[in-house]
Amino acid sequence: RKTLPIGNLGLRMPILGFGVYKIPPHACKAACLSALRHGYRHIDCAQLYKSEAEVGAAVAESPVPREEVFLTSKIKQWRGGPDDIRQSLLKSIEALGGGRDGYVDLFLIHTPRFRNGSVKDVWLALEELHSEGRVKAIGVSNFGIDHLEELKEYASIWPPHVNQIELHPWCQQRQLVKYCRDNNIIIQAYSPLATGARLSDPNLKLIAAKNGKSPAQVLIRYSLQKGWIPLPKSENPERIRENAQVFDFELDDTDMSFLDGIDEGKLGAQFPANVT
Ligand code: A2P
Repeated sequence: RKTLPIGNLGLRMPILGFGVYKIPPHACKAACLSALRHGYRHIDCAQLYKSEAEVGAAVAESPVPREEVFLTSKIKQWRGGPDDIRQSLLKSIEALGGGRDGYVDLFLIHTPRFRNGSVKDVWLALEELHSEGRVKAIGVSNFGIDHLEELKEYASIWPPHVNQIELHPWCQQRQLVKYCRDNNIIIQAYSPLATGARLSDPNLKLIAAKNGKSPAQVLIRYSLQKGWIPLPKSENPERIRENAQVFDFELDDTDMSFLDGIDEGKLGAQFPANVT
């Protein structure tokens, strides 16, 4: 019930993920252990967050078997050719655990807006590691329709299994979401809590009170009911727990249409081109 099949890979993705963006590396292992204790089976990290080894250590230490956890990373800006890209990917796979036999469930291209390097070279390296079984599914993040169309020109694996983008009621990226749906691309939602900035919104608080839930739980539930895969971030054990208690209620049509109606129509975070 709480997982979704990925294409025809015979692989399933838990529909609620735990995001470690902005968790400082020194706090990341404890946060992931807490998430695993509270039932999360999906952790979203990235080279950029500099905490892959901490995520890997948490999974190794947790009593939850590795094969029950879905691990995602993302490749950041690279310089150099296909060999360097492959080495960079392998380094992440190793950091996430399992040594030479290790694998990652999902690897994404963090953004199409790198200043250097070629998205094509990275995609081909991902396809290769996918064929070798080291990366079970491959996808992209922060890709717009134009980027996805460009990828189609050279990709052997298309559609990408996932596009991870900023999504919450104030930022719904409707055209892109429709395109992903029409093309069977799984949509992952980062910042499903709108980075926490709008949790005191009075209307959101009303919906929360009506459902006997917190504003954060309403936003996560909204994401789930839209069919997105929310990746809420928290480094606080209480809030980590709270954010997983979202399978015991349902937003009704009135709540859903209200939240549908507050979209501000902005594009998601256009991942900066100067990532290093
Ligand atoms: P903290 O890590 O201290 O819990 P998003 O996932 O949209 O990026 O939002 C993450 C932000 O929301 C973080 O600042 C996080 O702070 C905060 N946050 C996460 N869960 C909750 C919650 N249940 N209630 C209030 N704030 C939360």
